[in-house]
Amino acid sequence: MKYRIFGKTNLKVSEIGYGTWQIANDPHMWVGATKEESKKSLAKYLELGGNFIDTAWVYGYSEEKPERHPSEELVGEFIKESNNRERVVIATKVAPANWHWPAWKTDKLSDCFPSEHIKKQVDDSLKSLQVDFIDLVQFHVWNDSWSDEQEWKDTIQEIIKSGKVKNWGISINDYQPSNCLKTLDTGLISTVQFIYNVFHQKPVEKLLPYAKEHNIGLIARVPLDEGGLSGKIDSNTTFQEGDFRSSYFSSDRLLELEERIEELSCLLSEEIQSVSELALRFILTHPEISCVIPGMRKIKHVIDNTAVSDKGSLSSTLMEELKKHSWERNFYPDDAKDPNMADTNFLEI
Ligand SMILES: NC(=O)c1ccc[n+]([C@@H]2O[C@H](COP(=O)([O-])OP(=O)(O)OC[C@H]3O[C@@H](n4cnc5c(N)ncnc54)[C@H](OP(=O)(O)O)[C@@H]3O)[C@@H](O)[C@H]2O)c1
Repeated sequence: MKYRIFGKTNLKVSEIGYGTWQIANDPHMWVGATKEESKKSLAKYLELGGNFIDTAWVYGYSEEKPERHPSEELVGEFIKESNNRERVVIATKVAPANWHWPAWKTDKLSDCFPSEHIKKQVDDSLKSLQVDFIDLVQFHVWNDSWSDEQEWKDTIQEIIKSGKVKNWGISINDYQPSNCLKTLDTGLISTVQFIYNVFHQKPVEKLLPYAKEHNIGLIARVPLDEGGLSGKIDSNTTFQEGDFRSSYFSSDRLLELEERIEELSCLLSEEIQSVSELALRFILTHPEISCVIPGMRKIKHVIDNTAVSDKGSLSSTLMEELKKHSWERNFYPDDAKDPNMADTNFLEI
């Protein structure tokens, strides 16, 4: 496993991080994880050199048990039992108070992140994770129009001063890779988490050059397009009830995905053996990206994905070829999307 400098945080993170959205049976989005396998997968990840775990206050949330934070709790339990706090860089996220994912253009800072709300959620996360401090807390959505507001700046500086959180980041809105740049100019944000994968390549236009120039740590999320770039989903795939991907990949989309994966499969060789390997190496070939965080419930996926780090960069010819495979679209469920962006198909133009 190789490690990279994590922007200006003074930390080093393994190239392959661990996404934990799906390890705790989120009843509205992901089902099918077992606590036992999730813990074994986390243990295998650390054994294979991984050191970066991304979770969130909201992962696993249910209305029946609103005080519980199943993903954070599982991560916390695992780290405590295995006595690994010092080895692991923990990142979590503060959820928006108005429950808009992503934030709408018309949302005010006070709708999403009033000071007391941020402080309460940080305290909840410390408790669920069973730790004295958190390495990185990220705003779970963002709106760059809030960059000049004083309240969030004072709040995060106060929390950092208290020692509860070491660094602050933004997990930016889906498919809006520039919707953080003015805020980064404040110098108060150390990292950005953003969607980046073979299909969604727009972040190379502005976000990556900005981050390189200003030493911002970059966490690439959804690297496998929710499994679309795993090479394991085709037009015959069905999803378990409760798995949001049954709408993300409704039937005509699966057919188009299958064709696109067939085209990508033509690029495999002795040196690149699977579509998931190609997808992860595509991301890590950018030196300004600190780490990629595939979501993983299964030990096999942990083994396969961690092995990718040692395989190194793709050739410039292949990277050039992969530009032709971009497929900009937003398949996330419509219910929380910003109606103000409907005319752009919920994509930043
Ligand atoms: N707004 C936000 O801040 C936000 C939004 C989305 C995600 N995230 C973070 O980013 C992480 C990654 O995104 P994601 O999990 O949504 O999408 P993803 O990483 O693109 O895809 C995850 C899916 O890929 C499968 N997979 C992983 N490795 C594989 C392999 N080698 N071969 C075949 N299948 C493989 C996983 O299967 P198994 O689960 O069965 O192992 C899982 O179903 C999340 O876990 C979360 O931490 C943040």
